[in-house]
Amino acid sequence: MSAPLRIAAFASGRGSNLEAVLENIKAGKLNAKVVVVISNRSKAGVLQVAGQWGIPAFHISQIQFEDKDEFATHLLKVLTEYETQLVVLAGYLKKMPLEIVRAFKNKILNIHPALLPSFGGKGLYGHLVHEAVLEYGCKISGATVHLVDDEYDTGAPIVQRCVPVKEGDTAETLAARVLQVEHQIFSEAIQLFAEGKVEIEGRRVRILSK
Ligand code: GRF
Repeated sequence: MSAPLRIAAFASGRGSNLEAVLENIKAGKLNAKVVVVISNRSKAGVLQVAGQWGIPAFHISQIQFEDKDEFATHLLKVLTEYETQLVVLAGYLKKMPLEIVRAFKNKILNIHPALLPSFGGKGLYGHLVHEAVLEYGCKISGATVHLVDDEYDTGAPIVQRCVPVKEGDTAETLAARVLQVEHQIFSEAIQLFAEGKVEIEGRRVRILSK
């Protein structure tokens, strides 16, 4: 087997998606290693998750720097130091600086709790996504793992999976159903990269069956 894919994870919240990835690595389902965790929030649960798993974790926020360039340069330095091969946004609520998107072109993944391009974009995150899905009256929702470009939620999809919207769903019950699927497809998408099975042509992401 090839060496584990070296992953840097960015997150702003409790970190259940990161935990699912770490569990799958431990179970031998994912040939990857989370080498560093970065959060823009000092109190984010994800920093504790990283601590429990013995992963170096840092609170790095743009407000700690003079300007955007300095921030991006620092992030790039950390990613380089940890010999990052793939960046995963596991509930990261900030936009990735353009320099990072360019340096890691087609090597940054995001998980979004809806079927993009519906219910995505700036301001549509967390429970707001599920409220919007219910408000619209959708019969299905789901999750999307996609490549990150310089906009919110607009990069090409890699893996998508649906869940039903059920009678009587609230944003909470729908979020919980979608989260189960997030936990599956995030690792699946990462494993596709680990196995070198992803071929990208424009917006078309082909999954090779080698
Ligand atoms: C997930 O629903 C993810 O799709 C969204 O933010 C949430 C993060 O949850 N972008 P967690 O911190 O991984 O538990």
